Amino acid sequence: MKNVDNILHTKGQSVFLDDIQLPEGLLYAAVFTSAAAHGKIKRLEVEKAKTNKGVIDILTYKSIPGENQVGGIIQDEPLLAQDEVSFIGDSIAVVVAETKAEAKRAFKDIEVEIEPLPVIVDPREAYAKGNLVAPVRTFVLGDVDNAWDQCDVIVEGRVDSGGQEHFYMEPQAAMAVPLENDGIKVYSSTQSPTVVQRTIARVLGLPMHKVEVDVRRLGGGFGGKEDQATPWAAMAALAAFNLKKPVKLTLNRHEDMVMTGKRHPYSSDFKLGLKADGTIMAYEVTFYQNAGAAADLSTAILERTLFHSTNSYHIPNVKATAASCYTNLPPFTAFRGFGGPQGMFVIESAMQKAAEKMNIKPSVIQQKNLLKEGDTFPYGMQVEDCRARRCWKEAEERYDFAKIYRDVETFNKTNKLKKKGAAVMPVCFGISFTNTALNQAGALVHVYTDGSVSVSTAAVEMGQGVNMKILRVVSHTFSIAPERVKIETTNTTRVANTSPTAASVGADMNGKAAEIACLQILERLKQVAADLLDHSNPQDIEVRDEQVYLTGQKTQLTWEKVVNDAYWKRINLSAQGFYATPGIYFDRSKEKGKPFAYHVFGTAIIQVTLDCLRGIYEVDEVHLVHDGGRSLNFLVDRGQAEGGLIQGIGWMTMEELIYSKDGRLITDNTSTYKIPDIKSTPAKVDVFFLEDAANPKAVLSSKAIGEPPFMYGIGTYFAIFNAMKAFRPKKSIYFDSPITPEKVLKFLYL
Ligand code: MTE
Ligand code: HPA
Ligand code: MOS
Repeated sequence: MKNVDNILHTKGQSVFLDDIQLPEGLLYAAVFTSAAAHGKIKRLEVEKAKTNKGVIDILTYKSIPGENQVGGIIQDEPLLAQDEVSFIGDSIAVVVAETKAEAKRAFKDIEVEIEPLPVIVDPREAYAKGNLVAPVRTFVLGDVDNAWDQCDVIVEGRVDSGGQEHFYMEPQAAMAVPLENDGIKVYSSTQSPTVVQRTIARVLGLPMHKVEVDVRRLGGGFGGKEDQATPWAAMAALAAFNLKKPVKLTLNRHEDMVMTGKRHPYSSDFKLGLKADGTIMAYEVTFYQNAGAAADLSTAILERTLFHSTNSYHIPNVKATAASCYTNLPPFTAFRGFGGPQGMFVIESAMQKAAEKMNIKPSVIQQKNLLKEGDTFPYGMQVEDCRARRCWKEAEERYDFAKIYRDVETFNKTNKLKKKGAAVMPVCFGISFTNTALNQAGALVHVYTDGSVSVSTAAVEMGQGVNMKILRVVSHTFSIAPERVKIETTNTTRVANTSPTAASVGADMNGKAAEIACLQILERLKQVAADLLDHSNPQDIEVRDEQVYLTGQKTQLTWEKVVNDAYWKRINLSAQGFYATPGIYFDRSKEKGKPFAYHVFGTAIIQVTLDCLRGIYEVDEVHLVHDGGRSLNFLVDRGQAEGGLIQGIGWMTMEELIYSKDGRLITDNTSTYKIPDIKSTPAKVDVFFLEDAANPKAVLSSKAIGEPPFMYGIGTYFAIFNAMKAFRPKKSIYFDSPITPEKVLKFLYL
């Protein structure tokens, strides 16, 4: 099936937020932000700035008719600073003007006096001072304290992983249009239409039914628009509501980079104990999460770090502790993997360290400890339909790990200034929102009298192909041509109480809700067809490729005819579908439960070549075996696997977020922050999807794919390190991602 979006994208005809036809009388908003990382606001004066040409109004916290609060899980985030600013880029005022340039020109006349307060940027320092977002959490399995005695080898160490800029192609954006009777319609580039709706209702002091949020598509989200699209939409709505004029607010790249949160940086300590044969006996880990200046989704993200702290391995004794720490940096937020990658990087580091000490290949330890059917995770869930070992075996045979390692060794023996390295990266990722309540989705399906179909769900299209997948589910369920089906915008008036499109479950849940709605309509149509054919049992009716079959025999009836007849018989051709993932729960008082519907598995092997004179490296080849279930769309899934992998490689290698000690982002533009481009993309990426891998837990036996492939990229760190060690064998490995060329050079020569 062709992706309808691709054709529009290629022609430049797709409508992103900035392409929406401008409404009459549109005004533009720009956000004036704090230049200090932490301080008390002593004075804020905007009157003079209001006299600038083109300026219509300047909004501060005083302009908010409802509550000045946008915090989701924890109410700690004002929309506009009131008494304090807590990071550089914290929003203080919104200037509304006839043009964007005029709005920004007024910034110079806004007077703000800030009395500095101490600035903290390091999560360990915040932890020591007791600046915690929430109480520390601990997952326990077995008894680590008594397990160390049974270990032949024990390693300890520290792991730091840096943040990551989302770098969605389309920066944050919103446009708000006032409606009659204090209503407001908001176009938002958000993964969470309902969060935007709820927050705007709260800020404006309105019931939610007065706020309509509409989303056509996003130019990428990657988690960065799960929570952090909200403030911009709320500011546009506030301005539109107060001024009774449409208002648009778009951030440019630099503003977006400075003002919004990114992947959480973490600092962690580990201790790993093993038997001489490589069997892991005990693992103790403490995570210090840099939450930034507001909670945002940090606690949920930290929880997923705990869930994935043992990645794809069975460890009988585990103690994993996690603290979310306030600092004076932008509130860090969801990013593909949602804390999982940070947890997995630590266990992989610990295993590398153990391998170094035991003088064996890390892959020996990895393979030995892979999960198998029925193993228990530290959070109490048993692994079902475990494909960890199957993926490893398939990858090992298909790609001949032994030969890859031999070739690396031969190359390294014969080359002095270039070294190669390889690493294997298994991944196990839990599918479902870890907050059980969020695992619900709705759909609204209309069949029109010409047989065409309109589908609304809670899913937001952000390039991941969810619309394509839902379209597939609908056309398959009705057995009609895909061209008959249209996926509508995501709109809070058509589908209410939407969960964010996140946690990789967009297609799983909304596909299921759409299927449920379609099945209701199909039942009614079967009855109509049975009546038309004078047959008593509608169960004998089947639609196949738009033709009606009776007990397997083709009839004269078509999809179009039955639909049209149904209308004249006054049969309802619309249905609402609702899906709630069954069987999942989590008890936080015990830190045990079954939080995930299922797990996604896979194994990657990554090869790199290091230039030991310059410290630069290339990822030569990545081969991976991925458990994709029965794919709803093969090309979409391959795109997700490749894209996720490369985004993961970027996080581990070149994407370096640098904040100064006083909280200023130094890598605040495209010239200083490097994301993977075509040159840094591996010359070869092989993706093999497990065959005969149906997944009964998701729609049409598919499997979620959005996030898991990101974590294959983690192997790149270790592949590069193995190449570094080939050049300097005696020096001990350390764990501080990203492993930039500068760090490589320091390792090789200092
Ligand atoms: N792919 C593209 N092209 N753009 C995106 O923004 N977001 C990722 C992933 N793949 C993203 C993407 C993230 S963080 C998630 S959670 C999933 O897509 C969300 O979509 P899904 O649930 O439909 O897989
Ligand atoms: N993933 C992504 N977003 C979320 C989750 C999750 O597990 N829980 C709450 N928001
Ligand atoms: Mo994805 S981080 O769950 O939006």
